Amino acid sequence: MASDYIIEEKKQGQALVTNQKNSNSKLLYIESYGCQMNLNDSEIVASILSNEGFNTTQNIEEADLVLVNTCSIREKAEQTVRKRLQKYNSVKNINPKMKIGVLGCMAERLKSKFLEEEKMVDMVVGPDAYRDLPNLVKTVEDGKDAVNVILSKVETYADVSPIRLNSNGVTAFVSITRGCDNMCTFCVVPFTRGRERSRDPKSIVEEANDLWKKGFKEITLLGQNVDSYLWYGGGLKKDFDKASEIARATSIDFSKLLEIVALAVPKMRIRFATSNPQDMSLDVIRSMAKYDNICKYIHLPVQTGSTRMLERMNRQHTREEYITLIDNIKNIIPNCAISQDMIAGFCGETEEDHQETLSLMENVKYDFGFMFAYSERPGTPAAKRMEDDVPLETKKRRLADIIALQQKHGLYRMEQFIGKTVEVLIEGNSKKSDAHWKGRNSQNAMVVFPKGNEKIGDFVNVKINECTSATLIGNKQ
Ligand code: SAH
Ligand code: F3S
Repeated sequence: MASDYIIEEKKQGQALVTNQKNSNSKLLYIESYGCQMNLNDSEIVASILSNEGFNTTQNIEEADLVLVNTCSIREKAEQTVRKRLQKYNSVKNINPKMKIGVLGCMAERLKSKFLEEEKMVDMVVGPDAYRDLPNLVKTVEDGKDAVNVILSKVETYADVSPIRLNSNGVTAFVSITRGCDNMCTFCVVPFTRGRERSRDPKSIVEEANDLWKKGFKEITLLGQNVDSYLWYGGGLKKDFDKASEIARATSIDFSKLLEIVALAVPKMRIRFATSNPQDMSLDVIRSMAKYDNICKYIHLPVQTGSTRMLERMNRQHTREEYITLIDNIKNIIPNCAISQDMIAGFCGETEEDHQETLSLMENVKYDFGFMFAYSERPGTPAAKRMEDDVPLETKKRRLADIIALQQKHGLYRMEQFIGKTVEVLIEGNSKKSDAHWKGRNSQNAMVVFPKGNEKIGDFVNVKINECTSATLIGNKQ
């Protein structure tokens, strides 16, 4: 979810810990970078290692095992991780028994090169190999290096019950698909996370029920491309056509999954991310409209407003088709918030293309946005076939234009709530003041209001009196 993404980015570089302690004796220090799916994967890893005798710790100096779950999406993300590895190694000088492992997308992208080039890590584990961690940890404990970067056709970790890390006890992530088949030309994800596969809806519903029983009030269904969810008994999405007639006829798509989950946990708020416009169906929008507990917010990255650039990016829709989709969303769910991801300065982008992006933004007036300068990633179709020909200065200037416009639109959208009463799920203390609660409304806007006798996890109605471009401020009704 978009604003979570910002929150998570701020949290990045912190130790992830759980408050569920047991009699385990070994200590795991784990950090997660990048997307929400990485954070959820870290929770899966903590669960798998808990069975191997590990508790989480916030103190790196006492850790037996240090794991960093990495992101490859932009060069900067990789640089951040490299700096962290240097830091871990300086701690290793004080604590020589400590072992260091790299998880996630950088592990998958660089594979054993990590061991050769960096000589800073003992273990390299790709996103589909976490079940092998018990063996890999034993190998490094025996003083040998360990690598497993095999991508899977079936792995969804469906039966692993994640140990919630740095949890507020109210909101949780539930992964529903893994991998991506879309091959956007700029994107490294299909190479680091493999082909698309969906998780058994039964195990999704079980996890949702379990979270509800534990007091959680909101779940976010996660996937690189959730709208592409398709359960037909297991296997890769691309092999659906080869499945039996019965399997195809009884398959469950994302709109049905949303409905199943909304009915299974009728008081739980349900969010999802991320939607690729080309895969978002009207049925999904109708499921959202039908159930009050599905939040009225869609993260719908478009990357650019120029059809010419969309084509170069291998996004399977035009500017006009995207606008039609937005119109459909607003017609079916008038109060739906929409957010974007944009890339400034992709290969071949002209000033005219950039103006098209700004004009699309004017048209949609997004509630939130996540904006990036194009960063070429080795091995992607764009790196192989296209020239990264927009000068850095131009990328930065265009990005600044996009960010400035988004701030204007964000403020405009927030102002629309002034005078209205919204339902807020209390997540914790406001960052600025312990005398205020913070929580989000259905549209994912952050709301702050003075504390009364409510508690974390309560749903309350708040009347909005004022706002900034990022926060609504009000009073409990
Ligand atoms: N479906 C994914 C998208 C993954 S990447 C999801 O769940 O969010 C998130 C965003 O990073 C993309 O939407 C895109 O805007 C940005 N991004 C991806 N590759 C990039 C690159 N090479 N340079 C700059 N930004 C990139
Ligand atoms: Fe990346 Fe496009 Fe998939 S942005 S994650 S290849 S939908």
